[in-house]
Amino acid sequence: MAVGIFDSGLGGLTVLDAVARRLPEVPLVYFGDNAHAPYGVRTADDIYALTTAGVERLFAAGCDLVILACNTASAAALRRMQESWVPRDKRVLGVFVPLIEALTERQWGDNSPPREVAIKHVALFATPATVASRAFQRELAFRAIGVDVEAQACGGVVDAIEDGDLILAEALVRSHVDALRRKMPAPDAAVLGCTHYPLMEEVFQDALGQDVKVFSQADLVAESLADYLSRRPQMIGPGTVSQFLTTGNPAQVSNRATQFLRRKIAFEAA
Ligand code: DGL
Repeated sequence: MAVGIFDSGLGGLTVLDAVARRLPEVPLVYFGDNAHAPYGVRTADDIYALTTAGVERLFAAGCDLVILACNTASAAALRRMQESWVPRDKRVLGVFVPLIEALTERQWGDNSPPREVAIKHVALFATPATVASRAFQRELAFRAIGVDVEAQACGGVVDAIEDGDLILAEALVRSHVDALRRKMPAPDAAVLGCTHYPLMEEVFQDALGQDVKVFSQADLVAESLADYLSRRPQMIGPGTVSQFLTTGNPAQVSNRATQFLRRKIAFEAA
């Protein structure tokens, strides 16, 4: 009965935490590819190879359904995986769509033509690979018209978070928000398009100002997963235990994870 949650490192823990609160009875297997983080500066082929290897490991742990709790993998690898790699009896879902449905005021599965929405100016903060993929703009264009998106590639933030250097992460977030504001002085909404960034959400909100609505993915993805499993309960796989797997150093990753989630997390070697 396990669902897999994949990320390049620690960021997906923000999604895991929200899913664990929303679906406490579902065992969750987390895979953090910490040895290869950050993905945001890698090529699409490299991200595809690493993501498929990690998802394969989650299938082996008894997960039939895997959430890519990583925007970079969702943007650079998910479509290719779904088209030619995912076995028929498994599912791999990304984290973009729930966020864009919230932004465009849509219910799940509403495939009606794009329409005008309340939000007009959106600041997107994401990794360089996610920004380069333009996946966010593409998914948005399927659902909304007249929305102006300004994307800011936030180099360095994921590395600083993975290294536990939150002072550097804060300084980088503030400088990326300044850079964004030079291009779009008055966004109505900001999207934290990387699952590491909710760990710095208060800094983003403070730098952007209280008038800007900040969308972050964890709760939206948890809600959308709960909805999906209520329609497809058979996709809860045969695994029965929750696990935290990492390609990095388990002791070091456990310490950082415990610090971020403020509860004891014990990773084991993937
Ligand atoms: N947390 C991931 C994301 O949502 C990946 C960050 C990275 O490894 O660069 O994009």
